[in-house]
Amino acid sequence: MLVKSFYGLGVVLLGSTLSVMCSAQNATGIPHLQKQGNTTQLIVDGKPYLAMSGELSNNAATSLENMDTIWPKLVAANMNTALIGVTWAQFEPVEGQYNYVQLDGVITKARENHMHVILIWFASWKNGTSSFAPYWVKKDYQRFPRIQINDGKTVSMSGPLELLSTFGDATRDADAKAFGMLMKHVGEVDGTQHTVLMVQVENEVGVLRDTRDRSTAANRAYGEPVPAKLMQYLVAHKDTLIPEFRDVWAANGYKTAGTWEQVFGPGKPADVVIPIQTTSPPMSALEHSNSWQSLHWPSDEIFMAWNYASYVQKVVETGKAAYNIPMFVNGWLQQPNHAWPGTYPSGGPLPEVHDIWRAGAPGVDILAPDLYLEYFDEVCQRFTRNGNPLFIPETSTNPANAIVAVGKYNTIGFSPFGIDGNRPIGSDLAGTYSMLEQLAPMILARQGTDAVTAVRMVQGEEPKSVKLGNYTLTFTYTGRTTRLPPQPRGQNVASPPPPGTPGANPNDAPLEAAAVLISTGPDEYYFGGGGMRVDFTANTPGPGNVGLGDVQEGKFVDGKFVVTRQIAGDDDAQGEILVLRPNNIVRVTLYRYP
Ligand code: DGJ
Repeated sequence: MLVKSFYGLGVVLLGSTLSVMCSAQNATGIPHLQKQGNTTQLIVDGKPYLAMSGELSNNAATSLENMDTIWPKLVAANMNTALIGVTWAQFEPVEGQYNYVQLDGVITKARENHMHVILIWFASWKNGTSSFAPYWVKKDYQRFPRIQINDGKTVSMSGPLELLSTFGDATRDADAKAFGMLMKHVGEVDGTQHTVLMVQVENEVGVLRDTRDRSTAANRAYGEPVPAKLMQYLVAHKDTLIPEFRDVWAANGYKTAGTWEQVFGPGKPADVVIPIQTTSPPMSALEHSNSWQSLHWPSDEIFMAWNYASYVQKVVETGKAAYNIPMFVNGWLQQPNHAWPGTYPSGGPLPEVHDIWRAGAPGVDILAPDLYLEYFDEVCQRFTRNGNPLFIPETSTNPANAIVAVGKYNTIGFSPFGIDGNRPIGSDLAGTYSMLEQLAPMILARQGTDAVTAVRMVQGEEPKSVKLGNYTLTFTYTGRTTRLPPQPRGQNVASPPPPGTPGANPNDAPLEAAAVLISTGPDEYYFGGGGMRVDFTANTPGPGNVGLGDVQEGKFVDGKFVVTRQIAGDDDAQGEILVLRPNNIVRVTLYRYP
């Protein structure tokens, strides 16, 4: 346990005291990733962990007094994890002098609040730019070079931009050294308790306002052959490359040597202005709808992805050498109206360049999406290709997305951004977090198998079927219905809820509903969440009709299911219709009859 008197005493004291504890640590308890079935889990203290989290606004933890007001909000939102920034500027205000006060304070308070922490290393880059670099880095232009761009508006004076360049070995080494010190300290103070689970290294890296760095060093590298290490990786993984990237390489004849443009096709001419919106210059509706899923001026983005990945690899490997817990990077995503590299940070870990990141940064465990797009499922699919574990460090507070990410895409965690301020977690998501946390042991035990999935329904959508276990489950959207009206036996259609029933007013019904579905036995299911009804049909030989046996609402207490309401009669249409309600947990057994 940390004690406050440690604050400010510096690394020497801490190091000598806590290294003794470290040597006695149970190495297997250190957070790490582990494969299960077709997915990957975060293992903490020997058990799979589901991070029901939120990301704080960028500077929330630069003041511990400010954090004192935030912890109760996180607890009230039923979160078990918070993503919290550590800034290079505050951590190393003077070169070689490290400040552990904020980090220690965060870890101590997280423990007091029974929470875990995922750190964000805001260092060389944050949303492409470099505002979190220390003053001594910012002011030393020569030693720590900036990128240069030519955004077309500044053709004649395409000056440096306040983005540190990847072509600055001194910058990379200084960042890596500081990160190494940070991770060493985390290992010293947390190597036995494991409050810190993972680290996001940098934040949304990439070049803005141009497709690539056009500094002298960058131009020189761009004219040189593609590094052999990258070519060898691509050749070795040719059959499993991300399709949209492979198409680009294929279009250039799968060349295995040459300059970036020879191997991957043209970059953007320096004087071409990036359209701010993809609709300018005009494109067809089809071109527009596809534009955010493919590479434009491919060699520029591929070149930058390689250089950011190589830089980040150095930072990550230095950090892991000090304390080895999972590390990830996050990407500002390409979007229909911002499809051109440079309108989003060019070179970040986006799906179309995942192979480049894998080749350049093998120490990075997870390539993560900052997922604000409406195409939530599609992004989850693109970020789970080739075994990439899913973790969503930034998103909105939609509870249906949390349920789908966990149940269907095996996410390690779900984390709306700005939950301390501009996007507070509402009671719906807090309820969803509570529900998911109760079901987590059951879900995690089955992740990577076909015994767990999720379904999302949008208001007005046709019923949809999911095959799970021995039955096909057909879902019909009901909205926020809390109670079924009485129905005569045999009537297999839910009537609208009577006036006055919560949810009867369509204006307060959610637009979407989602539930996690868990097959726990040949004739048994657990459901979490809802806003839909379920009809069952059998997929195995036997009598054709399916009846509801036990229908039990409940909660998990100390890992055991405690029934809070046993349902039959009017509440399940005399045993014929199962209605799932938002954030409820329901256990159902089924039987067959002729
Ligand atoms: C994405 C960034 O990664 C965050 O740090 C934050 O700036 C949000 N955007 C703001 O919405």
